[in-house]
Amino acid sequence: MAATMSQVFCKQLGVASRWTILPLRSMSTAFKASDIQIELTKRPKEKPDPGKLIFGKTFTDHMLTVEWNNEKGWAKPCIKPFQNLSLHPAISALHYSVQLFEGMKAFRCVDKKVHLFRPMKNMERMHRSALRASLPSFDKAELLDCIRKLIEVDQEWVPYSDTASLYIRPTFIGTEPSLGVAKSNHALLYCIIGPVGPYFPSGGFTPISLLADPKFVRAWMGGVGDSKLGGNYGPTIYVQSIAADQGCHQVLWLYGEDHQITEAGTMNIFVYWTNEQGEEELVTPPLNGIILPGVTRHSLLDLARQWGKFKVAEKTITMSDLIKGLEEKRVKEVFGAGTACVVLPVNRILYQQKSYHIPTMDNGPDLAKRFLKELTDIQYGRTPSDWMLSI
Ligand code: COI
Repeated sequence: MAATMSQVFCKQLGVASRWTILPLRSMSTAFKASDIQIELTKRPKEKPDPGKLIFGKTFTDHMLTVEWNNEKGWAKPCIKPFQNLSLHPAISALHYSVQLFEGMKAFRCVDKKVHLFRPMKNMERMHRSALRASLPSFDKAELLDCIRKLIEVDQEWVPYSDTASLYIRPTFIGTEPSLGVAKSNHALLYCIIGPVGPYFPSGGFTPISLLADPKFVRAWMGGVGDSKLGGNYGPTIYVQSIAADQGCHQVLWLYGEDHQITEAGTMNIFVYWTNEQGEEELVTPPLNGIILPGVTRHSLLDLARQWGKFKVAEKTITMSDLIKGLEEKRVKEVFGAGTACVVLPVNRILYQQKSYHIPTMDNGPDLAKRFLKELTDIQYGRTPSDWMLSI
């Protein structure tokens, strides 16, 4: 009779064969999209007017859930009617922020079909966040296939509009019902989706002002600023309200004694200028551990490098570099980039009680606008691209 895996393993370890060898408990180390169980809603909701969407307030009819525990591994993925979760009040997600999420989008393209924008990049980042949050590993391609299936089920919710899209929010939480600060033995991965319009109520391309106050720090070296953990976002709401009290839309996050520019609100930040060497340059801070590796950030860098019209640099830029550039009239544009807001021009920075005008809108703004156009042309299928994946 052929040896079982556990017998082979015991032999390799030199375990005495007179011992009874129990078969290994079958444990699923990955879930599979082909195992999805689907329960459709009996009460489909009315779909909203795409022109009246407020970001993050509307959800479709269904959601995806996949449970995990350390004994049995992953359960079968389920697509089921959108519903509340029932959670033990002691779970680690609620007490210790054992939680992470992703933000990605699907678009109704010119062919009227639904396509996702670079979704594997989100799966890869989500997997990295999961390891950092001590949540279990999963198969990235299988999760993407489950999400594609969810979108297929709710595909009529993807707005027939080229100013709206479907926002996809994969979420992963520790559901260990225990107050010990320890690795969670239970977890829930789920995905909710909903149609969205512009992130800010003011609309798509209205310039924003930023409060740059070094008293507040979003992330630090050795921390988790490069993972998409909910704990990176919740504490920013307080600082955001301080920015609003001082007449600013968002926070410009600074870091270190030299006041390095890191991120703006929930976005990565870009500066387009003539550098001190006299070269036209697009700069964004490097992925040094405190910057979120944004998919839009990555895409703007890819586009700019493809164009080859100016220097593209991932390097540290400080407030004094920026102010010197402004004083010497070398700064052309400053803009934020993220999945939710796409590309957003910055027209003012408040720093150490001084308001600095940023000339982003004075010049067009040529580059931010070009990025927005090229990116949305790809996303809505007006420019064919292998960045898009059909559902
Ligand atoms: C994004 O733009 O990628 C985000 O995740 C923003 C979100 C926190 C609303």
